[in-house]
Amino acid sequence: MELKVGIIKGDGIGPEIVTEAMKVLNKVGEVYGHSYLYKELLLGGASIDVHGVPLTDETIAEAKSCDAVLMGSIGGDAKVSPWYKLEPSKRPEAGLLKIRKSLNLFANLRPAVLYDELKGACPLKEELTEGGFDMMIMRELTGGLYFGNRYTSEVDGVMTACDELTYNENEIRRIAIRAFDIAMKRNKKVISVDKANVLDSSRLWRKVVEEVAKDYPEVTLEHMLVDNCAMQLVKNPKQFDVILTENMFGDILSDEASMITGSIGMLASASLNDTKFGLYEPSGGSAPDIAGKGIANPIATILSAAMMLRFSFDLDKEADAIEAAVAQVLKDGYRTIDIMSEGKVQVNTAEIGNLICERIA
Ligand code: IPM
Ligand code: MG
Repeated sequence: MELKVGIIKGDGIGPEIVTEAMKVLNKVGEVYGHSYLYKELLLGGASIDVHGVPLTDETIAEAKSCDAVLMGSIGGDAKVSPWYKLEPSKRPEAGLLKIRKSLNLFANLRPAVLYDELKGACPLKEELTEGGFDMMIMRELTGGLYFGNRYTSEVDGVMTACDELTYNENEIRRIAIRAFDIAMKRNKKVISVDKANVLDSSRLWRKVVEEVAKDYPEVTLEHMLVDNCAMQLVKNPKQFDVILTENMFGDILSDEASMITGSIGMLASASLNDTKFGLYEPSGGSAPDIAGKGIANPIATILSAAMMLRFSFDLDKEADAIEAAVAQVLKDGYRTIDIMSEGKVQVNTAEIGNLICERIA
C-alpha cells in the first residue's frame, strides 16, 4: 500500500522527534510492504520564517491532498523568540488552530496509559496506580474559547479583554458520538466533564451528551465537574475509561493526565474529522529549552504514527507492532532522560528510535 503522508516537522524538538517517527514508519514499511509518499509541510515558526505567516493556504491545500499528516510540535520561547513580537494572529499557535479548523479536526483523542515499566516515573503513590491505568481523553478541538470572538479594548476608560465560549448542539453531538463509539470498543464508560454548575455552554453540553447516551445503552455515562476531575485524576486515575470534554478543559486535563503517565513525552494524539483523514501529533509542546540537544523523548510522536496507521489507514497489525516495540524497549530498560530512573540505561533521541526499529520484525 502507498501511504501519502504530510510531514510537519515544526519547531523546537519537532524535527528531532519526527525524524525518529519517520524512521519507525519506514521500518514498518520494509517489514509489512508499504511505501510512503511524504510531503513536507511548513507550520508555525518554521512557516513564519519562510512565508511570514504561520500557515499558508497552499499548505492547507497540500495537507488536504494527503491521507494523513504527522506533526512534531510548533512554537518557541515567547520570552526570546521574534515570532512572539508578531500580533497574536500571526504567531505559531495561530497556525495550529487554523489547520485544526480548516481541516475540521473536531475530535482530539489523547490516550493516557501508564506502562507497567514506567511506574517509577509516575509521581503518584504506588497504591493509587497499582495495576496501571488506561484512559482516552476525547477533547473537542474546533469550538469553545479557542475559536470564539475575542478582543482587547478600552471599555468605559478601562482596558478590558473578552474571550467568548460558544458551543452549538451539533458540535457537542458529533464529539459525543465519537466518544461513545470509542467507549464501545473499550470499557464502555464515559465520564463527561463540564462546569455545568456555572456555565450555560456546559449545561447544553450535558443535555446533548445525555441525548446521545440513549443510543448507547451498554455504555455507562457519568458527569463530572472539571475541578473535581482535575482532583480525581491524581486521586483515583483508575476510574477513568473515556473522558469526554470541551476544548479548553481537554487542553488542561490532558497535560495533567500526561504527567501521571510519567512524562508528557509519552502522550500521543490524533485529531480527526468525519473522514479517515487525521492529524497526528504528540500532546507535548516544542520544548525549545532542549531543542537541538538530541535528548527529547520521541515516543509520543512514534505512538502518534501508530495511531495514524490505525485510524487513517486501518493498518492495525502495523500499529500493534509499533506499540509492542515501544513497550519492549521500555521493558528492556532503555530510557530517555525525562523518564530515566535508577538502574536503567539512558539513551538519546536517535538511539531510542533505533532500538524501537530493531524490535519491529
Ligand atoms: C495542545 C497545545 C495547543 C492547544 C497550543 C500549542 C495552542 O497546548 O495541543 O494541547 O492549546 O491546543
Ligand atoms: Mg495543551
